[in-house]
Amino acid sequence: MSRLQRVMQRVQSRGHDYGPLRAAAGKAAALALARQTPIGMFNKNVLRAKVVQGVVAALAGTGFYEMGTYHAATTIGAQRFLQVPVWSCEVNPRNYCISRLVTLGLPQITLIHADSRAFLRRVCAELKAVPGARPCFYLDAHENELDLATLPLAEELPLIFALDEFAVLVDDFGVPEQAGYRAGTFGGVTVEVDLIRPLLLDQGIRTCYFPAYPAAEDTGYPSGFCLFWRSARLDAAMRERAFPLDLIHPYSVERRAYVERASVAK
Ligand SMILES: C[S@@+](CC[C@H](N)C(=O)[O-])C[C@H]1O[C@@H](n2cnc3c(N)ncnc32)[C@H](O)[C@@H]1O
Repeated sequence: MSRLQRVMQRVQSRGHDYGPLRAAAGKAAALALARQTPIGMFNKNVLRAKVVQGVVAALAGTGFYEMGTYHAATTIGAQRFLQVPVWSCEVNPRNYCISRLVTLGLPQITLIHADSRAFLRRVCAELKAVPGARPCFYLDAHENELDLATLPLAEELPLIFALDEFAVLVDDFGVPEQAGYRAGTFGGVTVEVDLIRPLLLDQGIRTCYFPAYPAAEDTGYPSGFCLFWRSARLDAAMRERAFPLDLIHPYSVERRAYVERASVAK
């Protein structure tokens, strides 16, 4: 697909309301909808979109913060689908200009031309001063696969960890024991739990969450993701495990093993 076609798709996505997908109360219903009308957001992953919906709802999220806008597929989709204000930052001037163009006039979307670390430094300082702020972060900024220095993840996380309550989803993440998911590799280093384990444990974050379904079951590009949070609301929702949070499975960062191993979908 050409760049122009991709941009035209983004422009069309401005009109999507995602009402039926928002209301879809099960995996089969969500998958059927996305097969009928493919989504552009979240790597076209409809099950991941439902997971994010569940996270933002359980967190009572006050905003969605995306690192790496590219052409605003997730920026536009997340705002329309989740119905929360969205902030997104992009370091590349051309991608920033394209994303400005395709989001022109859309309410509740703020695009920033900045490096994700500079953006997070400012945003987290501002959020810290707002009582009741409960941001959801989508970490998807990366550049050159040959160079680990172009992956800002290790510098983004400590900025987020200054906050009292938050959820984080990292894209392009290795999913333990699920070979179907693709992970990013930068300078020969794979984006997986061991890369961020000391940072999580240092914060007392002992559990992270991975998709509880095989990559082949979802629509779109099979990139893995990892979720974690500091939120009593989300902890409570995970004890209930009602759809869509039954789509993720807890993983012990300390033990490097799934919790309740027997029920992990293969
Ligand atoms: C995988 S794309 C993002 C896709 C987008 N989140 C989506 O779902 O459609 C990664 C983007 O991150 C941008 N990027 C790379 N390093 C960055 C950084 N340090 N800060 C902000 N953006 C960055 C790249 O220019 C690229 O547009």
